[in-house]
Amino acid sequence: MNILVVGGGGREHAIAYSLSKSPLAKKLIVAPGNPGIEAFAECSSVAADDIDGQCKLAKEMNADIVFIGPEIPLVLGLKDKLSDLGINAFGPTKKAAQLEGSKTFSRNFCKKNNIPQPHFKYCNDLETAKKQIELLKGYCVVKADGLAAGKGVVVCDTAEEAIAASSQMLEENIFGDAGKSILIEERITGIEASIFAVSDGDTAVILGTAQDHKRAYDNDQGPNTGGMGAISPAPALDEELNKNIFDNIIKPTIDGMKSDGNPYEGILYAGIMLTENGPKVIEFNCRFGDPETQVVLPRLKTDLVEIVNAAVSKKLQDMSIELINDTAITVVLASKGYPGKFTKSLELPSLNPTLNKKDISVFHSGTSKNEDGKLISNGGRVLSITATGKNVQDCRNKAYDAVEKINWNEGFYRKDIGKL
Ligand code: AMP
Ligand code: GLY
Repeated sequence: MNILVVGGGGREHAIAYSLSKSPLAKKLIVAPGNPGIEAFAECSSVAADDIDGQCKLAKEMNADIVFIGPEIPLVLGLKDKLSDLGINAFGPTKKAAQLEGSKTFSRNFCKKNNIPQPHFKYCNDLETAKKQIELLKGYCVVKADGLAAGKGVVVCDTAEEAIAASSQMLEENIFGDAGKSILIEERITGIEASIFAVSDGDTAVILGTAQDHKRAYDNDQGPNTGGMGAISPAPALDEELNKNIFDNIIKPTIDGMKSDGNPYEGILYAGIMLTENGPKVIEFNCRFGDPETQVVLPRLKTDLVEIVNAAVSKKLQDMSIELINDTAITVVLASKGYPGKFTKSLELPSLNPTLNKKDISVFHSGTSKNEDGKLISNGGRVLSITATGKNVQDCRNKAYDAVEKINWNEGFYRKDIGKL
């Protein structure tokens, strides 16, 4: 099969690597890809959000399947455009991607389908927002409706904080159109976990679970980031909870989308909080997580091309997905200063000490090459180093050993990924 992967971060490196191991993958192109991906697949310079460019590339390479990695091209309707051209794309349509693209859409959908979630109030003016904030005594969460590069959620302790956040979104337009309307949500508490399901619009199957580490520094201190590391399976989930989440959240979502005439195909990523009243949806994402993919896919025993092919051919009901028993953890090596200001184009040390090491994979998140062909940093999150092993301690030993061998002085990483 000819496969195009859209995207160029650590998530797409892990996706492309899994696909490349399949005997079914004849030609594999990743656009835009990155230097890590170049080692085993062809990369094309088309940007992930260049919808016309991606369509042209898919046609030129005669793609049998296009695997769309990031949310932006999905929300922009890349799947719809490819379908119009008769090309199979793995990922939801523009309309179905609203589960991530619009928090109001997602909350209203869950409400209609009795999917457990926090109470919420839609507001498009500050007066309505203030009333709701007073009602919740300031202990609430303010959310921009649209995509805001992971920054549109403010968890508040006081009314002052919540009003300031609402005002910045509604009146100062800090997120532009994405914050024109907001949600004020009840603030719930509990351990968080992520669950990844694959769906063909009718059937959904769980691919794996993970726990992200969102804060920048150890012991969950510091600002929120895109994710500084992850562990799979999610330590807080067991078979019983997975079944509960599947029965009460995943299945009703796939069924509800189908009965609304808006079938959901692709990866459904549910961010869950385990509250004392059971699992509740914090958010849905319409794609794999980054860095969660870097721990979910290395545990997958079943051929990823077979899974994706079954999904786009609506044959998931015939598919059983197997995982290896091992645990996986990934540690993100980030540029100093991230998620605030950081310097790009810094030379990276040789990754040779980590190459060909059993149980270790180094995924490139934000790297590129300079004019001399040297590997340089090109983003906040630069590398993610995954280890698989018998148990968490085994993984931690291997992953941190690899990170220390890379020994990048301009970077930093959390030392407590997967610490129980
Ligand atoms: P993100 O949407 O990834 O920027 O992250 C939002 C984070 O805010 C989640 O991981 C939760 O920790 C927190 N959060 C979002 N909604 C709620 C809520 N209703 N109650 C409590 N915490 C929340
Ligand atoms: N790691 C969080 C995300 O991918 O949204």
